[in-house]
Amino acid sequence: MNSQLLKRLFRAIQSGSGPDVEVLCRKVVEDERKAGHGRVAEDLERILEKVPKPSPAPGGPGTLTRLPTSGRDAAPLLQEVPRDQLRHHMVLPEEVERRFRRIEKEYAARTRLAAHGLHPRQRILLHGPPGCGKSLGAERLAWNTGLPLLKVRFDTLLSSYFGETHSNLRKVFDSAETTPCALFLDECDTLARSRTDRNDVGEATRITNALLEMLEAYRGDGLVIAATNLDSALDSALIRRFDEVLRIPLPSTSEIEGILKSTLSAVITEKSLPWWHLALEMDGMSGSEVTQIARNAAKHAVLEGRKVVTGDDLRFALTEIHERHHQAI
Ligand SMILES: Nc1ncnc2c1ncn2[C@@H]1O[C@H](COP(=O)(O)OP(=O)(O)OP(=O)(O)O)[C@@H](O)[C@H]1O
Ligand SMILES: [Mg+2]
Repeated sequence: MNSQLLKRLFRAIQSGSGPDVEVLCRKVVEDERKAGHGRVAEDLERILEKVPKPSPAPGGPGTLTRLPTSGRDAAPLLQEVPRDQLRHHMVLPEEVERRFRRIEKEYAARTRLAAHGLHPRQRILLHGPPGCGKSLGAERLAWNTGLPLLKVRFDTLLSSYFGETHSNLRKVFDSAETTPCALFLDECDTLARSRTDRNDVGEATRITNALLEMLEAYRGDGLVIAATNLDSALDSALIRRFDEVLRIPLPSTSEIEGILKSTLSAVITEKSLPWWHLALEMDGMSGSEVTQIARNAAKHAVLEGRKVVTGDDLRFALTEIHERHHQAI
């Protein structure tokens, strides 16, 4: 284990900073996973899960009935993702990982920051190509901060009745201010289309402006996370309202290798598996596709009654995905 990390962990224990200890412990878990010690990482994680959480956030699990509903048909405007369903293992470029960690660290240190009149980064925008881990990024932030993840349901929020979308949005933000949570506006371009789009007039523009105002006025104790894969939807007025704008790119070859290894960390793989070569062959694919290839390869081995996943299993799964791409074109 990294000696710097060990020192930081000891210092955090010595100073009695519970949230820092937890963040550092999670880093140890991630490091072990990256080092290919999947089993150790899972054992450590299970131990962490037994650590009692500081104080359950009001509105956390079990308080779904208090979630806001839409005006006319009283349909839920928010959906809570149960904590045990949050996926959170990510393989990212160092700089992107550092910025994710910084958000988590600032959240953990929010009381210390407040003592100096400072605020943690709370309004986060995640963008990048499809399948690169934006939704996963929101889940990871909720997991590492311990905040309940509340996803905005655009299907019920967007109303055909004049003014109702605005009041639904208001309810969502009011609720996020009274209930500490990670409020997640996934595929937020549904709402905030580029204001330069000439077709985008009237109600859509008003809603975009309302979102900007509510983002700016947000004073809750949690996070507001928005995600989009449309770079063109990133209006400069929108970008300005966020404390952190994170672009998650397609994975590099070594990140593809990392995603393959972590997806297959719970199964036995062939000893001389040519990870790097296989990763090279997957160049240009998204994290989502790479994960799918690894899972399909593992399933293929199981169905053939083998305990060991081979390079051929992975190549077979890769060919299938390639073929599917060609069929789609
Ligand atoms: N950087 C990554 N590290 C590890 N796994 C990843 C990464 N990116 C994607 N994945 C895998 O792909 C799955 C799908 O990713 P996710 O849904 O977060 O992508 P997205 O960017 O939200 O895509 P979309 O634009 O289609 O909404 C994840 O659950 C995970 O298994
Ligand atoms: Mg997504």
